[in-house]
Amino acid sequence: MAALTGKVAWVTGAGSGIGQAAAIALAKEGATVVLTGRRKGPLDQTAAMIKKAGGKSEVKAGDLMKAAVVTRIAKGIEKAYGRCDILVNNAGLNILERKWSQLTPASAETVIDGNLASAFYCVTAVLPMMRKRKDGVLIHTSSMAGRYPSILSGAAYSAAKHGVVAMSHTINMEECVNGIRSCAVCPGEVATPILDKRPVPITKAERARMAQSEDVGDLIRYIACLPAHVVINEVMINPTWNRGYVAALQRAKS
Ligand SMILES: NC(=O)c1ccc[n+]([C@@H]2O[C@H](COP(=O)([O-])OP(=O)(O)OC[C@H]3O[C@@H](n4cnc5c(N)ncnc54)[C@H](OP(=O)(O)O)[C@@H]3O)[C@@H](O)[C@H]2O)c1
Repeated sequence: MAALTGKVAWVTGAGSGIGQAAAIALAKEGATVVLTGRRKGPLDQTAAMIKKAGGKSEVKAGDLMKAAVVTRIAKGIEKAYGRCDILVNNAGLNILERKWSQLTPASAETVIDGNLASAFYCVTAVLPMMRKRKDGVLIHTSSMAGRYPSILSGAAYSAAKHGVVAMSHTINMEECVNGIRSCAVCPGEVATPILDKRPVPITKAERARMAQSEDVGDLIRYIACLPAHVVINEVMINPTWNRGYVAALQRAKS
């Protein structure tokens, strides 16, 4: 029997990139996967890929920056399945104009709501279901920018992703007594559509050297399959050809 047979996983940002890869990996492991994102089209594509792989999923589209929408989706999960065993709290976004000289209150709000507030809404929505069963795994896609502030990623994104890491650690601090585990996944550069929002365009060759969505999806699957008595609190995953390191080496030579 697959490790996650009978479990229900909610994957946010499941229509593309890391979320799509994680959703497929969890479904192949036997979980029934609820797929959320704002656009229904990409979620339907993920659902079709899961079906082709012999897995089960359901599409529940919605904007996670709206607390009422998150509550509605979570209540739908509870009604349909009576449980949510795994939350992959992965939806996130960035903006092109991310320097302090370019930030506005509105753009800062978008990045903070789209990466941090939305993540908080999802956590508060699933914890009651997990507490009832004294079991649950939360996996949050933070970022290397959630560990080390990054000009490349921008002030608002760095701050929001630091918030996601702090959020995850506090879940373990309070909810460990309820059998609930939380992991902050901090990826470096992963070749996904989010990179199209970089101020400096990234070439196809550069993307090929980066970590791929499937690499992070498989890490998320691994974390979700850990035995209930252990937790990986935080993990970093990076391309071996780390462009930050390579640039530093080049600077050191000159
Ligand atoms: N790629 C990287 O280099 C990298 C590195 C570190 C961390 N990350 C993080 O990894 C996570 C996944 O990103 P990705 O790289 O896989 O990029 P992606 O392909 O752009 O995925 C982001 C997903 O989140 C969904 N989303 C965004 N805002 C949403 C909202 N308000 N409500 C619901 N869904 C929303 C998007 O779908 P809709 O547009 O349809 O809503 C999209 O499918 C993000 O949290 C990102 O910050 C990425």
